[in-house]
Amino acid sequence: MVEPDEVVSMARMVLARTGDLAGQQVVVTAGGTREAIDPVRFVSNYSSGKMGFAIAEVARDRGAAVTLITTVNRPPLFGIEKIHVNSAQQMLEAVLTATREADVLVMAAAVADFRPEAIAEQKIKKQVDTEGLTLEMVRNPDILAEVAKQKSAGYGPRVTVGFAAETEDLMTNATNKLTRKKLDLIAANDVTATDAGFAVDTNRVTLIAAAGSVEELPLMSKVEVAEAIFDKVSQLNLKR
Ligand code: CTP
Repeated sequence: MVEPDEVVSMARMVLARTGDLAGQQVVVTAGGTREAIDPVRFVSNYSSGKMGFAIAEVARDRGAAVTLITTVNRPPLFGIEKIHVNSAQQMLEAVLTATREADVLVMAAAVADFRPEAIAEQKIKKQVDTEGLTLEMVRNPDILAEVAKQKSAGYGPRVTVGFAAETEDLMTNATNKLTRKKLDLIAANDVTATDAGFAVDTNRVTLIAAAGSVEELPLMSKVEVAEAIFDKVSQLNLKR
């Protein structure tokens, strides 16, 4: 028997055929990247992928063909192509391939800025006589910066959306990221709030558009935040 969730998703997809994203290809990333230390360990962060999954579902329900690139081991969402990755480098490759023909990219993933310089082939054993372990870390590629390079070469998504996960100076840091990463829109996110950011079902973001608008949204469900993002994306997309 078909699961009730699947029936609801099917009904939503049928209704979505006339949605404002009908005919658009949307690529979404979700979750924290996992940077391997050895075969059994990795470095990561608290991102649960909930925001990215909500964005993918909302895009589908507004009519888009959606590719979700994620590190999160959740069952696939009905009607959404899911690509599983672990590291930032794997995510970069998947994003560059998926966005060649895409209309919109939403980078909700929490990408690790650094990875261990080398992955040990065998499980690292503790030495009886040593008290500590030092990991050499090297910089990961900035996925949005690589997407921006593709865009200047004439291909890649028409609209790029990023998130700014901040613990201080939210607006200044988010505005700098919007410019530095050549984004059309950024969702500024104070991740220190207990009801917003990582691993909860609600979020409070301010949407800053490169075109100049600033919209401070109240506390909302992540699905409502996703709807607000696509309301803005829809306006940007139509103008191009
Ligand atoms: N991002 C990315 N590639 C990275 C790091 C981040 O594409 N290597 C994307 C994230 O998915 C997000 C945006 O860039 O959409 C901002 O991520 P964030 O972690 O807030 O910022 P950083 O680029 O890591 O900058 P900082 O270290 O100054 O916070």
